[in-house]
Amino acid sequence: MNYDAALDQAIGRLHEEGRYRTFIDIERAKGRYPQAVWNRPDGTHDEITVWCGNDYLGMGQHPEVLAAMHEALESAGAGSGGTRNISGTTVYHKRLEAELADLHGKDAALVFSSAYIANDATLSTLPKLFPGLIIYSDALNHASMIEGIKRNGGAKRIFRHNDVAHLRQLLAADDPAAPKLIAFESIYSMDGDFGPIAQICDLAREFGALTYLDEVHAVGMYGPRGGGVAERDGLAGRIDIINGTLGKAFGVFGGYIAASARMCDAIRSYAPGFIFTTSLPPAVAAGAAASIRVLKGAGGQVLRDAQQLHARILKMRLKSLGMPIIDHGSHIVPVHVGHPVHCKALSDMLLRDYGIYVQPINFPTVPRGTERLRFTPSPVHDAKRIDHLVRAMDALWSQCSLNRAELSA
Ligand SMILES: Cc1ncc(COP(=O)(O)O)c(C=O)c1O
Repeated sequence: MNYDAALDQAIGRLHEEGRYRTFIDIERAKGRYPQAVWNRPDGTHDEITVWCGNDYLGMGQHPEVLAAMHEALESAGAGSGGTRNISGTTVYHKRLEAELADLHGKDAALVFSSAYIANDATLSTLPKLFPGLIIYSDALNHASMIEGIKRNGGAKRIFRHNDVAHLRQLLAADDPAAPKLIAFESIYSMDGDFGPIAQICDLAREFGALTYLDEVHAVGMYGPRGGGVAERDGLAGRIDIINGTLGKAFGVFGGYIAASARMCDAIRSYAPGFIFTTSLPPAVAAGAAASIRVLKGAGGQVLRDAQQLHARILKMRLKSLGMPIIDHGSHIVPVHVGHPVHCKALSDMLLRDYGIYVQPINFPTVPRGTERLRFTPSPVHDAKRIDHLVRAMDALWSQCSLNRAELSA
């Protein structure tokens, strides 16, 4: 085989479809988020505003998080030095897991290298624990859940997105005695819509199923202590396994599940993705624990309120210009563009001409024809920055619409 030619063809297909991914090289500057420096490929630099980050609350630069990381780095050094089983469980990991269990009102929590790994490792391990398990998965679940469910070799059913009637049909068609699990998300990050948690919990009770909820885009952001949408709605007690990230609203890195002590013990003991990998660096675990503590407190609510306010203002202003905003009342602000080339062109012009960085979101992250720009305002995206963005979108939208036919040709 000509391996180089095969690689060139694979990359060429992405170019042809206009969805070849270009990574924008930025330098974040502590204390200045959402400002950053864009390092252009030609070696020049420019100041930009990051409008597509998932550091939703700016916790990546919070002084208490940084102090905790410095303290742990000075006292424990750089890496953990081992897997969790072999010398890599430190006081920082234990404290972080206690903090997470408390956040979700669960007995226990397990920290993984990322929420991707936590989803993949947990969902691929569950059929080993419950032979014959059938997993019911929302059609728009994140790639990490899909991978875990695919790899586990067990039975799976896909229900139409947020369609509890369809889910009911699928549950009712299966053997009542079979073990079952319903996997879904509290907020679907690309549309910013909410999962019907209460209705799914009702179905789970009726059909004797476990519930698995990905709260990756909600932890830190919703609920009086940042425990997610399930906490906000008083439903955390009805979820068997909650999955979350430490890398988005908590501003650090890593992922986790929170569940009963028995469930965590079993996953800890059987999931290769937990067992056979080096544990998080102590400084990362310390920073994440500090961030969770901050967001559980009154200061956390101030940040959540400011973030929600900025999201509402941005949506209102873009809507008033007639832009196709996808609005489900969450903190995410997607603007539907509908064409990969058009989407990339808008993103390029925003960056080049206005210093606004928003990555184009194309297939396979979203279905073809639903390409979009996904804005993520934070408490530090103030009125001036919002105004600059709205004016830029206004100017470019009409310009790009005029060019649309040419771009699609
Ligand atoms: C819904 C969902 N689950 C899981 C993940 C993975 O999170 P992490 O970045 O911690 O791996 C993501 C990441 O974007 C996500 O959107």
